[in-house]
Amino acid sequence: MSDHTWSGRFAEPVSDLVKRYTASVFFDQRMAAQDIRGSLAHARMLARQRIITPDDLAEIERGMAQIAGEIERGEFAWSLDAEDVHLNIEKRLTALVGDAGKRLHTGRSRNDQVATDIRLWLRDTIDAIDGLLRSYQSALLDLAERHADTPLPGFTHLQVAQPVTFGHHLLAYVEMAERDRSRLRGCRKRMNRLPLGAAALAGTTFPIDREFVARELGFDGVCENSLDAVSDRDFAIEFCATAALVMMHVSRFSEELILWMSPRVGFIDLADRFCTGSSIMPQKKNPDVPELARGKTGRAYGNLMALLTLMKGQPLAYNKDNQEDKEPLFDTADTVIDTLRIFADMVPGIRVKPEAMAAALKQGYATATDLADYLVKRGLPFRDAHEAVARAVRAAETKGCDLADLPLAELRAFSPLIADDVFDVLTVAGSLAARDHIGGTAPGQVRAAIARARARL
Ligand code: ARG
Repeated sequence: MSDHTWSGRFAEPVSDLVKRYTASVFFDQRMAAQDIRGSLAHARMLARQRIITPDDLAEIERGMAQIAGEIERGEFAWSLDAEDVHLNIEKRLTALVGDAGKRLHTGRSRNDQVATDIRLWLRDTIDAIDGLLRSYQSALLDLAERHADTPLPGFTHLQVAQPVTFGHHLLAYVEMAERDRSRLRGCRKRMNRLPLGAAALAGTTFPIDREFVARELGFDGVCENSLDAVSDRDFAIEFCATAALVMMHVSRFSEELILWMSPRVGFIDLADRFCTGSSIMPQKKNPDVPELARGKTGRAYGNLMALLTLMKGQPLAYNKDNQEDKEPLFDTADTVIDTLRIFADMVPGIRVKPEAMAAALKQGYATATDLADYLVKRGLPFRDAHEAVARAVRAAETKGCDLADLPLAELRAFSPLIADDVFDVLTVAGSLAARDHIGGTAPGQVRAAIARARARL
């Protein structure tokens, strides 16, 4: 005799391999707290609606309290035979409180139960990630504030383009994280509806009160359609897509940290505790954390693809395929949480080397656009100004010097509009200060942007 709850229908027990193949208990036990919470809300509703007695409810509450304690203390005996987190808990409840435990599943199915558990679990996870994104943003803002004036070569095509401040550069990542947070909020809002009451797929014959359960569990309302409620996992996919974007943004920042820390560039140093050495090359200090974050972004993309593929082509309503939603979902959540936790801790310890940034800025004719703008302001059409400056850059390159190092007479050979005030625009400080509008890199604008971002946090 198998001890499966549903074994009455079967003539022979499943093989051990099939048991292992179909079980989810070893990963879905992570949702035990949510499963208990959902069951208690359901039981309270059953009692209110006189579907079970107050005594049954009291027994269920007593049993669940004990089970929660056993799980917390690591004493709960998870069993493969009971297949998943839901049946493990229900089986233990029945062992503890008898018939009241057997009445818990009235008007409910594991299909609406699991859909509820995942949503409860994901809601908490989203809130945790939002908090971590906020800490990460706050760390970026602190560092940006300290470097609102620090010039950094801004790159396009990984070549020196125009001066920006390091603070301005960091603020770009604050904005990305802000949009990530907004996407998470949207995902949470769409997800926060109660599936319970859908039962297996068609609803239940019992006089249930779904709105009550929704309120008990902090949902904004109930899922409108029972078939949809038990079967779709779009909310998990949406979360994984949002998390993939979070990781994509972190990965871009990681790539910059790695580049900046490379001895050839040397713009920053990371605190030792975020780096590792080489087992063979004694001189090495490797940026392992950003490299791993960049690498782990691949798992987040993979998990998203797994869930999209899992859902594709599933007919209504519930199919066991959906049990496969959990491992990718958990893995993505773990990856994002660990990554953001480390980044929020690592960013404050970034040691900036302004001299190296300034030296790099000297090498790429970063103020060439400023010279072109200068000529335009004196009446030259932009295309002609561009051409004149391009020739000046070529001349400076031949001499192996910066534009600002060319004597005025030589500069005037490229355009008679150039006067001795040109040196104000050829300096890095002049170039930065001139970009004085919202979204620009002028230090005053960077400070104002930091203040606005802080007010948003
Ligand atoms: N462990 C299952 C899951 O994660 C619970 C739902 C099982 N429902 C069913 N009809 N077999 O999806």
